[in-house]
Amino acid sequence: MNSFIKSKIVLIFSLIICYFSEAQINQQLFEAKVDSLMQLMTLQEKIGQTVMYSGSWDQTGPIVGSDNGKFIREGNMGAMLNAFTVKGTRNLQKIAVEETRLGIPLLFGYDVIHGHRTIFPINLGLSASWDLKMVEESSRIAAEEASAEGLHWTFAPMVDISREPRWGRISEGAGEDVYLGSQIAKAYVHGFQGDDLSQPNTILACAKHYVAYGAAQAGRDYHTVNMGEGELRNVYLPPFKATVDAGVETFMSAFNELNGVPTSGNKFTLRDILRGEWNFEGFVVSDYTSINEMIPHGFAKDSIDAARIGMNTGVDMDMMGEIYRLHLKKLVEEGKVSEDYVNDACKRILLAKYKLGLFDDPYRYIDEEREANTKYKPEFLAKAREIAAASSVLLQNNNEALPLNRNSKSIAFIGPLVKDEYDILGNWAAKGDRNGKAISVFEGLSEYLKPHQILYAKGSEILKDDDSGFNKAISASKQADEIVLVMGEGHNMSGEAASRTNLKIPGIQPKLIKKIRKANPNKKITLVLMNGRPLNLSDEVNLVDAILEVWFPGTMGGAAIADLLFGEVNPSGKLTVTFPRNVGQVPIYYNMKNTGRPIPESNAGEDYKSNYIDVPNTPLFVFGHGLSYTSFQYSDLKLSSNQMTFSNSIIASVKITNSGNMDGYEIVQLYIHDKVGSVTRPVKELKGFQKIFLKKGESKVVTFTISVEDLKFYNSEMTYGVESGEFEIAIAPNSDFKFKHIFNLND
Ligand code: NOJ
Repeated sequence: MNSFIKSKIVLIFSLIICYFSEAQINQQLFEAKVDSLMQLMTLQEKIGQTVMYSGSWDQTGPIVGSDNGKFIREGNMGAMLNAFTVKGTRNLQKIAVEETRLGIPLLFGYDVIHGHRTIFPINLGLSASWDLKMVEESSRIAAEEASAEGLHWTFAPMVDISREPRWGRISEGAGEDVYLGSQIAKAYVHGFQGDDLSQPNTILACAKHYVAYGAAQAGRDYHTVNMGEGELRNVYLPPFKATVDAGVETFMSAFNELNGVPTSGNKFTLRDILRGEWNFEGFVVSDYTSINEMIPHGFAKDSIDAARIGMNTGVDMDMMGEIYRLHLKKLVEEGKVSEDYVNDACKRILLAKYKLGLFDDPYRYIDEEREANTKYKPEFLAKAREIAAASSVLLQNNNEALPLNRNSKSIAFIGPLVKDEYDILGNWAAKGDRNGKAISVFEGLSEYLKPHQILYAKGSEILKDDDSGFNKAISASKQADEIVLVMGEGHNMSGEAASRTNLKIPGIQPKLIKKIRKANPNKKITLVLMNGRPLNLSDEVNLVDAILEVWFPGTMGGAAIADLLFGEVNPSGKLTVTFPRNVGQVPIYYNMKNTGRPIPESNAGEDYKSNYIDVPNTPLFVFGHGLSYTSFQYSDLKLSSNQMTFSNSIIASVKITNSGNMDGYEIVQLYIHDKVGSVTRPVKELKGFQKIFLKKGESKVVTFTISVEDLKFYNSEMTYGVESGEFEIAIAPNSDFKFKHIFNLND
């Protein structure tokens, strides 16, 4: 070839490369490879790719259970859940690669929800850091550890918005707000998937549970959801859309029905919105047997019918339901399921395997040395400690009870969670070691106090009705200068199938708190709370001075709590979910609608207004609330203009001053209220936030740019757009404020 032609070819290639991104070229390459592989596959083999089973385990790892081995050999399994470790996945992968007709590798998935070995705070806690970098870092570390044990895929993030503290799974999400939830959703996806899925330290993410699972009626898990399309589109769908924008590779359909149609057989949400409107190209997995569950829902008459509905509506993979393997072939042969749907599903699943590089090397995630050297790296643990502290929320700090005095003669630590190394990891703690790896609060104290300064008493269990430990606890409290109670829920009181109707601190712990206060009327008492949901703390706010909400803080939880208690770290977390005064106020959330009869400011308690006769409408702790050991002043809110058009933007700025005595982070929140709309708009909506660090005495001007994009919503015609008119705006430390500033949007 002469050099002229060569240079032309190089030029053409460079132009192609400039025109198409590397990802697009890879996608096309992979698609071509998948197409040619699929030419060789029988219908049953294609169906095999849509089937997922759970691994069976012995003491040390997954084993090749008799049926699992058989299904893999027959080409009747495309993916496995609950199977990891290098040894276990190698055995299983070997069968898929060496003993099947086409040698297609398996995909190994697992619930890596808030860490794999190194456990971070539960997701609701992590969201309270309002720190997108930390969310990404924690999921990056989780992906490092999980992928080093043979895993390719996590069933996370859960991006269900929830306003329902009774629902145990509120602990797995990012709280009640759609804007914050969407930002956090993206950060998780970036963390798990990284920039390049072909790297063996990245894993597929999975946006779940699609959709509206967090709105379960009465907070009872798996329960019915009835919701208007406006609310669905304005509140529950956006975090899912955000994951699609962030390039999430997989989705999980949910257990619940939505407006009479189960979400694992819901054409509107799966085909019309996810595929049609959002162009999602990855694959959808069902939740665990959720396709089969359309039978008790009363939507499918039997498992054949359920398989038909599942595949026809776009659920590409059947998690543990067995019904795709058993029925799809016949359904296709009878023309009840289009073969195109099976082909599409198979293609999407194979594409994911190509993207992960499993066709280049099916064992690329299987490396003993990496497995041995990756878990619990010191830098992971250090990050977990930092993140646990940043996720904690100082709810109350009367009489400056915190920070504690390191030079106290003695401090009493009382409660069932002081020495706990088990519950502290929270629910869904993947392979976090619950037997001694986690740092308890008690252990954490040793960095700050000498043994003779610590008085310990367990006092009670979390749930048992046995008060035999009360006396010892009361006498410890009487001897001490200061008192710290470490109490809360057990790890399994939140998470899946863990709904509660009572939001009080469980068991006889509240009784113990009362007794300790009675015995120590003038001492400072701090309550450190571990829990997976907003609790009703209406009694406790009057009994203790300080309340530090630490959620379930994870492997380094005790060290992080000690850092906060002794002021080594200044608390900075803020609530991403409202804490009610009692369960009767639920659902209660900051971005509610007004009514035709709101309570007038001057006239609370007036008759025939939208209020209760027994408690105020306000919650105990508002969305966005969180104290610090320092104080921040907000002043000089300015708008670059109070007139905005559809094509320009305005800038809102505020001066924040650290007016206290300690350096600290402040989470600055931007709220907007669209005063009049063609459909009514929430009383306030978070539209931006910034987490800033200010040294004591320091001031900073924080700015937010507001454009029409921030003001859009779905109207009654389900059109997404913006409406001109008057908007209120505020920049505030939490959602409890009155608007004072206005701008106009003119078309
Ligand atoms: C059921 C849960 O709803 C889902 O979140 C989880 O990923 C699957 N089980 C797999 O464990």
